[in-house]
Amino acid sequence: MIYEDQVYDVTRFVEEHPGEEEVILNRAGKDGTGAFDEVGHSKEAHKQIRELLIDSLDEASADTITKARLATRKVKKTPSSVVML
Ligand code: HEM
Repeated sequence: MIYEDQVYDVTRFVEEHPGEEEVILNRAGKDGTGAFDEVGHSKEAHKQIRELLIDSLDEASADTITKARLATRKVKKTPSSVVML
């Protein structure tokens, strides 16, 4: 699964996922960035995903996927520097 510009091997993690196998299988082999972020995964989940890292996308693929992501994004993300009260 792709998250941002990197490739993660989710094969073994699928069965351990606390949020159901299916949601990961739906994104397997694809870009899961939007789905992963929309859930608002915890810091722990962000740590876990790092352990599954196997590769980075080459520049051309990263560029293509970023453009596709921007084109399909419905709501712009709040910059992390903005504190919501
Ligand atoms: C391989 C990457 C992923 C990792 C390491 C991961 C990890 C986790 C962890 C640790 C949790 C427990 C709650 C938390 O700590 O935030 C969780 C919950 C959840 N995840 Fe993931 N997840 C991944 C991908 C995804 C994807 C692609 C989806 C797609 C929608 C997803 C949907 C969910 C949902 C719906 C929950 C349940 C939230 C709840 O009921 O609290 N996850 N995930």
